[in-house]
Amino acid sequence: MSLFVRDEGTGPAVLLVHGFPLGGWMWDAQVEALKARYRVLVPDLRGFGGSAAALPPLPPDGAAPAITIDDHADDLAATLASKGVERAAVVGFSMGGYVALSLVERRLELCSALVLADTKAAPDAEEAKAGRTASAQKAIREGAGPIADGMAQKLFAAATHKERAALVADVRAKMAAVAPAAVAAALLAMRDRADRRPHLAQVRVPTLVIVGAEDAITPPAEAESMKAAIPGASLVKIEGAGHLSNVERPAEFNAALLRFLDASLTR
Ligand code: MLT
Repeated sequence: MSLFVRDEGTGPAVLLVHGFPLGGWMWDAQVEALKARYRVLVPDLRGFGGSAAALPPLPPDGAAPAITIDDHADDLAATLASKGVERAAVVGFSMGGYVALSLVERRLELCSALVLADTKAAPDAEEAKAGRTASAQKAIREGAGPIADGMAQKLFAAATHKERAALVADVRAKMAAVAPAAVAAALLAMRDRADRRPHLAQVRVPTLVIVGAEDAITPPAEAESMKAAIPGASLVKIEGAGHLSNVERPAEFNAALLRFLDASLTR
């Protein structure tokens, strides 16, 4: 499946994988910071942004997802092949981290390094799975707006809500513009994702875990347990950031990312 991919800069390849219900746009500040030293590849996952038309039809409510997290990872592998890239540093944010963990588990040879940003390796608990199904049904019934409203409440640190209302409104509007079928498909794919914790000890590439200190969706405890389980991994906690740490605190996020990539990738 060919995805819409932004492809900028030259140097070792870095693949930036977006979260839910976002798009490649969430990495704008990272593309600017990296492109002088790296080839930055930013796909829109199937259903999102420029890859909106690539989503298969949605099965009936609550049924098996139209697309799985592993399918998204296979799309990334195909994207790298189509771009002639043998190995990339894979940077996955939240849902993009679930996809990155799938890629690392099944196609480690494609990954030169791994960055897990505001994500987790544990699967959904039963209650959370039920919530995903209900939210998917709501998206189909009422559109992406209510999901965007709920996410906008949870994505940001308290200070971001208080001081940067325009940023919150902009992100909310972008989330609300995602097709309801894509929102539902992603919710069902996340509901059914595998438990990646048993594989973490086999992640044999340089790994950085980043988390916003106020991340309410994938809290710092999740980041700490991934760091402890992945051999040699390091952890950076970004103060003053919630879940959307790379957008809320781009300078701190980019500094940590560049420091890690510069140290990990051979030129
Ligand atoms: C995301 O930010 O990609 C999602 O909120 C992750 C999740 O809901 O598990």
